[in-house]
Amino acid sequence: MLEKITDRIYYMKNSDETDRPVLGLVIGDDFCLIVDAGNSPKHADEFKVEIDKMGLPPVKFLVLTHHHWDHTFGLREWDLISIANYKTNNYLNMYQGIKYDDTSLELAKDKGVFNDFSIGCIKGEIADRENFLPKNVNLSFDGEMKIDLGGITCEVRQIISPHTDDSTILYIPEEKTLFLGDCIYGRTKQGSNHFDANLLFPMIQIIEEYDAEYYVCSHESVCSREEIVSYWEQLNISFDIANKCSSLEEGVLEYKKRFDLEPSNDTVFFLKSFALR
Ligand SMILES: [Fe+2]
Repeated sequence: MLEKITDRIYYMKNSDETDRPVLGLVIGDDFCLIVDAGNSPKHADEFKVEIDKMGLPPVKFLVLTHHHWDHTFGLREWDLISIANYKTNNYLNMYQGIKYDDTSLELAKDKGVFNDFSIGCIKGEIADRENFLPKNVNLSFDGEMKIDLGGITCEVRQIISPHTDDSTILYIPEEKTLFLGDCIYGRTKQGSNHFDANLLFPMIQIIEEYDAEYYVCSHESVCSREEIVSYWEQLNISFDIANKCSSLEEGVLEYKKRFDLEPSNDTVFFLKSFALR
């Protein structure tokens, strides 16, 4: 069964085990739209079975939040109008130039396309990797577009994020819901998380312009307004401390001095993500 956010918005929960992101469903009077394709044919099929049970208007559109394999490797299972920004489209061409047997995955790792964790997840999700071929979208856009599903609109927008340079967010104003994909997360560099403040804080300003109550983050499920504001605050505090301190140890002491509290694991993670070591 899918999880309900509002009468017109449902989602399938994320699962960390094989890095499955949230898959979103927006229900219009005339058509439905899904957010992200799934991390494998199996993931996509499981979502499709749940949608079929609901007896909805036809699913006509699929929008990708970015190119990462866990959001896109289920694309071939969907026979509909698939949409991504033009940068995502370019990255997906790269995935089509790779083979997915064990040896080829190791070669792709050497080129920095996958890491050990993602290779383990791909092996766990995709049984027939010898014949697996990722698919690209059939419609790409630059900037923004609106999709009318009948009685409900999806505002699709390309956004600069610290996670990738090809992020897309989706806003459904009638339901005050914003799908953020992975754009609130950092980027993995040499095995650790990194936030580029020059990309992060302008993006937060853009996200704050939306009148949203529900924020769908791909690897957390749904955040309330309070939760997302608290997340911004943690990032702001961590960035401020990281700017004033020259080591993680000093940063932790500064946090304790300011708040008379041990920093949480999340705060330590953010301090490290702003380059305190
Ligand atoms: Fe991602």
